[in-house]
Amino acid sequence: MLNKLNKKLIVSASVIAAALLATGCTEGAAPADSIVKKPSIDGGVYYPIANGQTGPYKVNEQAYSMALNHGRVPTANELAAWDKDIQGVRTGNRGLPEGKGTVNEGEELYEAQCVMCHGDFGSGGGGYPALSKGNAYEMQKTLQNQRNLPDNDGPVRVFGSYWPEASTLWWYIRDAMPHTKSKTLTDDETYALSAYILYVNEMEIDGEPVEDEFELNQDNFKLIKMPNKDGFEPNIEGPTALDDVRAYYANPTNFGAKKVDPAQRCMTNCQTETAEIVRIQNGGISEFHPPMSIVRDLPVEKGDGAHKVTFDAKKAYEESCTMCHGSFAPAAKDKAAWEPFLGKGMAAVYKNGLEGTEMGMPARGGSSLTDDEFKSVVDYMVNFK
Ligand code: HEC
Ligand code: HEC
Repeated sequence: MLNKLNKKLIVSASVIAAALLATGCTEGAAPADSIVKKPSIDGGVYYPIANGQTGPYKVNEQAYSMALNHGRVPTANELAAWDKDIQGVRTGNRGLPEGKGTVNEGEELYEAQCVMCHGDFGSGGGGYPALSKGNAYEMQKTLQNQRNLPDNDGPVRVFGSYWPEASTLWWYIRDAMPHTKSKTLTDDETYALSAYILYVNEMEIDGEPVEDEFELNQDNFKLIKMPNKDGFEPNIEGPTALDDVRAYYANPTNFGAKKVDPAQRCMTNCQTETAEIVRIQNGGISEFHPPMSIVRDLPVEKGDGAHKVTFDAKKAYEESCTMCHGSFAPAAKDKAAWEPFLGKGMAAVYKNGLEGTEMGMPARGGSSLTDDEFKSVVDYMVNFK
């Protein structure tokens, strides 16, 4: 159970950050010493801070001592600009913005901005997820294969067969794709691309097949019923969803536990009493203490064991680049493959690598290398000696 101190701390830590936007509250941060005394929550481990570190991690001690300046209440316009939530199908998609786009328009966009990663007709390729593997209704059947018909192929788990809600597709494309320049698509383009992805999944809307000329908009979008909508358990629909989910998980036989026959005799390691199950109360963990360090370098070891961190370009290449370079992108040391890139000069190669290209190179290869580290990996890749 949470005691009063815990409750106060939880509220003053993470929740207030969000709640303040709405309330305009200006309460200061909890004083540092009260957090240090904080006991653990329901089995969650609390690590003590010593010498500015907790275990091997540096602690952001400033966050304890600073009185937070919580700013002001946002205006209605600021909130509207920030609140891009489209509110999924469960709430009737009331948040879907106005807009429209046809399958044909979507196909054109797809060929220009998506095909290099997601493959022809969304078939997937080069380590990027497939967006379709055929007919959604047929693919959906493969999801049951593993459990009921273990000898059949499956499960095919892609958007069409697996996802319970189509609104996730719309939101995901608008906010995250194309991978190298996310948030560049307009709402209309997002409708067009969604329409195209429904098309390659051979889906129907309200009984009508989605064909080339089909135009998707904020109204008919709400009629999409994903084939696997009812394929999930526990059921998380409806006003009693939370209680249903709790009841489901309270009974381990619902998720694979086998019932033991009490008449069966136990020979070794027998459990004599019912173990008490410790649960996190009141909706789960809502804080993280101590705050995670924002410092990225390793703590320097004291004494003669001080370790020097040297950057290893080959290792970084293997860790962050080889999932693409060496298969469909030029491998390190492959002179012929790199020649077309190097013609434009190293400055441009670095820049393209750092910023990403439309041909499938994500900015920094999706790594968190610094500029210099990234460049030294590139140097390693194009050093043909
Ligand atoms: C540079 C490569 C790249 C490009 C270009 C790209 N994507 Fe993606 N896409 C990815 C990667 C990588 C993921 C998986 C991301 C993850 O799981 O974190 C992904 C995931 C997705 C998913 C979710 C798939 C799933 O089943 O989880 C959709 C939908 C999607 N992309 C649509 C698009 C669309 C539409 C475009 C074109 C506008 C596009 N992508 C362009 C790399 C790319
Ligand atoms: C998700 C796949 C992927 C990853 C991961 C990736 N690359 Fe690439 N990279 C590509 C592709 C594809 C190209 C070819 C792009 C083109 O044809 O313009 C490329 C091209 C490049 C180029 C040449 C850019 C130009 O146009 O001159 C450099 C430099 C580069 N990658 C460096 C790296 C480094 C360094 C890493 C690892 C830190 C890395 N890449 C990780 C896919 C990837």
